[in-house]
Amino acid sequence: MVTVAYRMENEKSNRESFSGTIAIFFAALGSAVGLGNIWKFPYVVGENGGGAFLLVYIICIVFVGIPVMVSEFYIGRKTHKNVMGALRQLSPNPVWKSIGIFGILAGYFIMFFYSCVSGWVYSYVFKAIKGDFVNITADSAGALFGKTVVGPFPPLVWQFIAMTVVSLILIKGVEKGIERVTKTLIPLLFVLIIICGIRALTLPGASEGLKFLFKVDFSKITPGVILSAMGLAFFKLSLGMGTMVTYGSYFTEDTNLITTSAKVAVADTIVSLLAGIAIFPTVFSFGMKPDQGPGLLFMTIPLVFSKLPFGNILLVAFFCLTAIAATTAMISIVEMLIAYFTEEKGLKRSTAVILNAIIILLIGSLATLSADKASILGNVSVFFGRSFFDTFDFISSNILLPVGGLLIAIFVGYFVKKNSVVNELSNNEQLKNRSVITAYRYILMYVTPILLTIVFLSSLNIIKF
Ligand code: PFF
Repeated sequence: MVTVAYRMENEKSNRESFSGTIAIFFAALGSAVGLGNIWKFPYVVGENGGGAFLLVYIICIVFVGIPVMVSEFYIGRKTHKNVMGALRQLSPNPVWKSIGIFGILAGYFIMFFYSCVSGWVYSYVFKAIKGDFVNITADSAGALFGKTVVGPFPPLVWQFIAMTVVSLILIKGVEKGIERVTKTLIPLLFVLIIICGIRALTLPGASEGLKFLFKVDFSKITPGVILSAMGLAFFKLSLGMGTMVTYGSYFTEDTNLITTSAKVAVADTIVSLLAGIAIFPTVFSFGMKPDQGPGLLFMTIPLVFSKLPFGNILLVAFFCLTAIAATTAMISIVEMLIAYFTEEKGLKRSTAVILNAIIILLIGSLATLSADKASILGNVSVFFGRSFFDTFDFISSNILLPVGGLLIAIFVGYFVKKNSVVNELSNNEQLKNRSVITAYRYILMYVTPILLTIVFLSSLNIIKF
């Protein structure tokens, strides 16, 4: 009943929404699950020593990730507006507009490099289907990755294709586009990743890989490593920039915001672990190194999977699931931008989609042309010795998202009326979850901001341990 009334109200205002709880869960999970799980998570874990990093990461998810996600959902559903409109409605103080400005900036920065890497993934799906990885060697895997990345034309074309797919889905709208695609593809992604994980676990020597992933070595934990874990948690759960505010604005009134956040965080971590389980045992079983940075997915996976029976089918499956993950995540970032342009600037949805695709492709090409040292712009230093590609990644994940998250925590924790938060999170007293809300507010007010500030200041060397 509540849902129907809400939808009628929304129809009056011409604003779309998701159709119900399951659609909401898959859409939010579709945003969280992305290249972060399959491309970033395994190599960051690999570089930072495995299990100890995992433990820090899980602490960041529980004490920072989930509280910030609940807060973003609160802001979105309370106002049913894009990130800028939502903040304006909740507080007349223009200071809070900065959350929206940072968010929009972070959205663009992430899309600039994310659309580039997604393009590589799309091209690997195509290569796997063509059988390019059959009989591949370590040298030819490296050469193929080099060709894919350095280009210059193929990576630009694939980036264009990835953006076109995202734009075509977004033009269809929230329910017919985003909801339909995420509800079908996210369950498929789970099936594919479980198959790849089971295959990896049945390889001889798989236990080495598992030991690497789950072994706990605290000597590896430094402030820099903790910041990486925190940055990864934000990036992973799509937090700190208003994506979840925007998705929250399409939620129905009967959605339980706290349990949805917890379920999304748990399911997303399971996907990351499954990706690790599919990748590390396979890598170890073939005597390869686990700490190869961003190339881990593109060089090692084709090499090791192609040596397995039915390896090529597995490879097609693996890159398809990565492409699905990348696409549903990009959809959520661009939707945040589109909601802003349609509601604040009055653009038609299709115009907003095309305009954003053009901006992302134009500036994103700088990321594509600087992704490797051998690329045309590979040696151009933009920010403390970083290339365009690395600058977009570093500024968004390590600066804009944590700062955005901190501001969101402070805003909802201290500057929004307690009653408003309690009413929204209990669905106007329909849910009997008072003690959970109290725990959430304590963590949001006293743990999240302090943890975020310490990690941030120590990583900038402003405070030292
Ligand atoms: N969560 C996505 C991933 O892990 O790949 C990336 C992402 C999506 C970041 C949406 C930020 C965002 F707003």
